[in-house]
Amino acid sequence: MSEVLVRMENIEKSFPGVHALNKVCFELLAGEVHALIGENGAGKSTLVKCLAGVYQKDSGTIEIRGKPVDIHNTREAQELGISIIHQELNMMKHLTAAQNIFIGREQNKKIPFLVNDVEINRKAVELFRLIDLKIDPRVKVGDLTVAQQQMVEIAKALSFNNDVLIMDEPSSSLSENEIEELFKVILDLRSKGKGIIYISHRLDELRRICDRVTVMRDSRHIVTTIMKDITTEQIISQMVGREIYESHHLHGDTEKNEIVLEVKKLKRGHVVRDVSFQLHKGEILGFAGLVGAGRTETMRLIFGADPMESGEIFIKGKKAVIKQPKDAVRQGICYLSEDRKRFGLALGMSVKVNTVMVSLQRFLGPLGIIDEVKSKAVTEKFIKKLNTRTPSIDQLVRNLSGGNQQKVVMGKWLIQDSDIMIFDEPTRGIDVGAKSEIYKLLNELAEQGKSIIMISSELPEILRMSHRVMVMCEGRVTAALSVAESTQEKIMYYATQRDISAVPLDLPKD
Ligand SMILES: Nc1ncnc2c1ncn2[C@@H]1O[C@H](COP(=O)(O)OP(=O)(O)OP(=O)(O)O)[C@@H](O)[C@H]1O
Ligand SMILES: [Mg+2]
Repeated sequence: MSEVLVRMENIEKSFPGVHALNKVCFELLAGEVHALIGENGAGKSTLVKCLAGVYQKDSGTIEIRGKPVDIHNTREAQELGISIIHQELNMMKHLTAAQNIFIGREQNKKIPFLVNDVEINRKAVELFRLIDLKIDPRVKVGDLTVAQQQMVEIAKALSFNNDVLIMDEPSSSLSENEIEELFKVILDLRSKGKGIIYISHRLDELRRICDRVTVMRDSRHIVTTIMKDITTEQIISQMVGREIYESHHLHGDTEKNEIVLEVKKLKRGHVVRDVSFQLHKGEILGFAGLVGAGRTETMRLIFGADPMESGEIFIKGKKAVIKQPKDAVRQGICYLSEDRKRFGLALGMSVKVNTVMVSLQRFLGPLGIIDEVKSKAVTEKFIKKLNTRTPSIDQLVRNLSGGNQQKVVMGKWLIQDSDIMIFDEPTRGIDVGAKSEIYKLLNELAEQGKSIIMISSELPEILRMSHRVMVMCEGRVTAALSVAESTQEKIMYYATQRDISAVPLDLPKD
């Protein structure tokens, strides 16, 4: 029997209006990867935050290697050998990747941080090599993609070389290749006798790397068992306490429908290179590709969030001028961003304010004052529709669980009722139950005649939802496939089709 690294017993934690943990028990062994799963808002992040010193438990006991401990802050957790990779990225965007990793740990505290840069850059490169991350340690974190930032977080957690590593949805913004790298690292740590707590909504991936699984539901511990002994269906029904109906999408032919959006030869540096495609009425157009393929960057050009160098956009056949997001919204385009913290939400404001924010015009009364009744009604409608878990519509978004924040972003763009909807990783961090709700919703929107672009790094999601699939690699469209001719293998093939005649990526722009 392996040593028990962590034992948590009868952990209680309440926030105003929310009983987040109700007598929860949890145990982690040395050399074990232990999955922690449950619906959005079940209490997973709260539990691991109590262990990592981010929150203090109200009551209950925590033992580390059999010794009772009180963990008051993150530094004490570190000293006890506990590291956490947070669900929400919280790095200093103006510091470099290496500085973010080693902040507060300068060798010689007397020498200012920047003087030690050579040393920390060297160490960062070593860590990056471990996880096969190909970035310059001197680059500012704010300039990295979400996936790259996530990898930097992982590198940071590894740098402490702690015995207990908590990963709160480390893979949600990673693509297949990066996930493979992450798994290699996890299995290596496991073989060295470390304990890993792994939180994820991707059940198939848990099955591949986890030894045991603990399921939480409604702030309680439901079951802990050996992964091999439980089927995915059983896990799901323990999680949600009900059966989930998996509707199957009928992929009609949308190519005959009117063209709603056409983009021609969009270009921005080496990130977006001559991207052209058409979007039809009532169509869900999937965008597949590896992280860094230029999908988000393409959509940001269309939405006016970044300036394009050249290219044309046509909406219903008419040339459109889009210089800023406001122009796009006015012309019936909405964009649900992959990075909810940066582009999606005002975290310090309420669920209600966030929901009506972009469509404020519609909630103004005759005197230009917000119509409270109307905005309350519409917020409540979307909370119900998306099954968002919040004690009230006045709760600050910051206090919602990760998946529930994502649902608020969804709601806010759905109210906008645009004809062209761009969803960038719409189910990132969303639990299985809510995921099928969102799929249903996207299907309904398409049936109502809306046109949808869906970027997703989950190939099963692309195959299940799309009428047609665009594949991108290194800023170019490498394939346009009908869903009938698409397979995971085929998409992966095109997603890695590098154009060898292209200018090497590291050459300066001419
Ligand atoms: N700082 C806080 N203040 C108030 N409520 C909070 C706070 N942190 C978490 N909660 C609430 O506690 C409950 C559990 O949240 P938690 O973040 O642990 O869920 P989760 O299981 O991690 O969900 P997800 O899968 O969406 O990440 C939720 O109802 C959430 O709104
Ligand atoms: Mg969470």
